[in-house]
Amino acid sequence: MGTLHTLLPVAAAFAKYDKKYAISNRRCVTPSFNEIRHILNLAQVMAIGSKVKLMTFDGDQTLYSDGGNFENSRELAGAMLDLMRAGVYVSVVTAAGYGLDGSKYEVRLDGMLRAIESAGLDAETAQRLIVMGGECNYLLRVQLTQEGKAKLVPVASEEWQGDHLDGPKPLHWPEEDTKFMMDLAQNSMTASATDLRLRCKIIRKARSVGMIPGGDAMVATVPVGHGSKKLKREALDEVVLRVMETFREQGSRISLPWCAFNGGRDAWVDVGDKSVGVAALQTWLGVEPSETIHVGDQFLNVGNDIKARERCPCLWITSPRETEKMLVHVLEYAGIEGEFRYAQEDPLGAGVGPTAAPTVVMDAFTGEMKTI
Ligand code: IMP
Ligand code: MG
Repeated sequence: MGTLHTLLPVAAAFAKYDKKYAISNRRCVTPSFNEIRHILNLAQVMAIGSKVKLMTFDGDQTLYSDGGNFENSRELAGAMLDLMRAGVYVSVVTAAGYGLDGSKYEVRLDGMLRAIESAGLDAETAQRLIVMGGECNYLLRVQLTQEGKAKLVPVASEEWQGDHLDGPKPLHWPEEDTKFMMDLAQNSMTASATDLRLRCKIIRKARSVGMIPGGDAMVATVPVGHGSKKLKREALDEVVLRVMETFREQGSRISLPWCAFNGGRDAWVDVGDKSVGVAALQTWLGVEPSETIHVGDQFLNVGNDIKARERCPCLWITSPRETEKMLVHVLEYAGIEGEFRYAQEDPLGAGVGPTAAPTVVMDAFTGEMKTI
């Protein structure tokens, strides 16, 4: 079952849920998996209550749809602003890795950054929004410019991985070890692509290897096959499980943490994982596991949020809408007045999201900018 980082008031959570949804009055239908997930989420929020100091969020499918960007959502952005105003660190811990290039993460988090600007947060409050990219490899935080623009700038490595801290230090991982793992992952994925007749593309970055739909160009290369537009869940799971098998066969030759997962539209192998990302944040910020909550959508054996579970309590959601709903409970049990979340009039103004249709779009897989 894994570590429980807090006591869980499951009976109280059930009573609250049952009061609204009358589960115990049902005669023909037993509690479903999703209902149990909701009750455990609620119990976790009740347990942490006002002790919460750090909330980490997965990106894709938790704050925005897979491959999408943070949208003009007053509820979601408003609740995150309320947490920051109350002194809580809010961090996006995402597998998406674009090195330390703040402009790429700014594209993905656009709606949230615009909300920070519209809300007129002071510099100290604004910098409580932190981004951990590539699972645990790249750390950036918000900085306000003199004109009041919210930018994402790298945090100096000595600050979050310095000798004075006893947390994980991914920057110090030996290059030959990461290369060994990336080579294995790439070879395994290439072999799977042939074996499963996938019309896919394999991407290699500094600390990850990914498989994405190959597009029309791959139809001629793999005349009988599938996946040019969409790779099947079953195929992606198979690719991920084969990489896991390959890595396990290597035994102690794999010396670093890693994460192989099915991202819904793609499959990835990253050096590092979210347990390392959350642990590094906790050490740097001086926050205990029992004062942290991670919110994510991927808790199956082929998911990547499940790793965070080793370092803190988690809320398992299935969409940004559910994240929004859970945040209502988090604010309630933390005793935080929802100035932005509950405002009658929109204090963030009309311009929370992008003001004009973008002419440059970013490929969420690679971070490449394309003019349209
Ligand atoms: P998360 O759900 O926020 O952890 O993001 C996972 C998604 O990020 C993947 O499904 C990919 O679409 C995208 N992504 C972009 N770059 C990377 C990478 O380097 N490693 C893993 N996922 C990546
Ligand atoms: Mg996700």
